[in-house]
Amino acid sequence: MNNSQYKAFVIREKKDGTFSRSIEDKNIEELPPGEVLIQVKYAALNYKDALSSSGHKGITRKFPHTPGVDACGIVVSSESSEFVKGDAVIVTSYDFGMNTSGGFQEFIRVPAKWPVKLPSKMTLEESMILGTGGFTAALSLYKMQQNGQIPEMGPIVVTGSTGGVGSMAVAILTLNNYKVIAASGKKDAHDYLRELGATQIISREETNDKSGRPLLRPKWAGAIDTVGGNTLATCIKACGRNGNIAVCGLVESPKLETTVYPFILNGVNVLGIETAETPRSIRLKIWELLADDWKPKHLDKIKKIIALEDLETHIPLMLEGKSKGRVLVKF
Ligand SMILES: NC(=O)c1ccc[n+]([C@@H]2O[C@H](COP(=O)([O-])OP(=O)(O)OC[C@H]3O[C@@H](n4cnc5c(N)ncnc54)[C@H](OP(=O)(O)O)[C@@H]3O)[C@@H](O)[C@H]2O)c1
Repeated sequence: MNNSQYKAFVIREKKDGTFSRSIEDKNIEELPPGEVLIQVKYAALNYKDALSSSGHKGITRKFPHTPGVDACGIVVSSESSEFVKGDAVIVTSYDFGMNTSGGFQEFIRVPAKWPVKLPSKMTLEESMILGTGGFTAALSLYKMQQNGQIPEMGPIVVTGSTGGVGSMAVAILTLNNYKVIAASGKKDAHDYLRELGATQIISREETNDKSGRPLLRPKWAGAIDTVGGNTLATCIKACGRNGNIAVCGLVESPKLETTVYPFILNGVNVLGIETAETPRSIRLKIWELLADDWKPKHLDKIKKIIALEDLETHIPLMLEGKSKGRVLVKF
């Protein structure tokens, strides 16, 4: 391996339409164009990465591809005046790891508008424990608060609560004095959820109402939903007056069937959470909040550190809904 060679996790499409995953030696010259070259220190595994790593064309159209929507590291060189060699930076969102080569490799090159300087009160490792999962959870609460959600209205239900976004949502809501009802399919994760701050833990089934009724007795005052489908419909039907439902994900289904009754009778608000193109001013504000007042206390308990080679084991676990907390690749 010479100076410009490095290791990358690469997904290739085979002639029979299946996909292979392996670690390859690559050359820095093969990286996509961009103003900032970064040596990656940590990357995080997200649900989107698990899909991309399996050849999901809804996430990544062209292969070979290196996934990884979250990375952080040290600037090696920069053609932009905003960054200098040695800066610690976080790269998330935009097209990073989707159709642009992502964080599961030792070096990345990105456009200058993508990186954010690491806030002074945050370590590189913390930035990836938080990553897109933490950013999504924080953006959800930020938008809910802008829309009038206060702790006095009552508890917030978090679905997919042991997942990357869900774990962060439980922790960040707790920090902000909201009572949290954590909905989870993992019976063995109650201690984990209580440590994050959940005051009540319910089963996945309790957020998956099959009664067919358009409205239910209010069970929560708002929701951060990472699951979609009938779970999201249930979050809406059982939400109290003027509550906010932050819609983040689709691990159950992208479909949503509802009537208008929760909206016109209870004033329930549905808030769309889209992190990839969040305006830079809000992006910087969210990262500053995460570095300080909104930094969860027990970040260490949410992380699992793995090597690049271990992605092969962790990707299927995530696709099967068995992943817990944030999985970090350390370089
Ligand atoms: N809007 C955005 O900008 C944005 C940003 C980041 C992520 N997302 C989306 O948010 C979702 C969660 O991402 P993540 O990284 O947190 O994924 P993750 O770590 O895999 O967590 C998903 C969690 O959902 C639960 N779950 C899995 N399968 C389920 C099913 N069939 N029905 C109900 N619950 C199920 C599991 O938690 P329990 O076992 O505790 O139930 C699982 O741990 C994904 O859809 C992702 O694409 C969106």
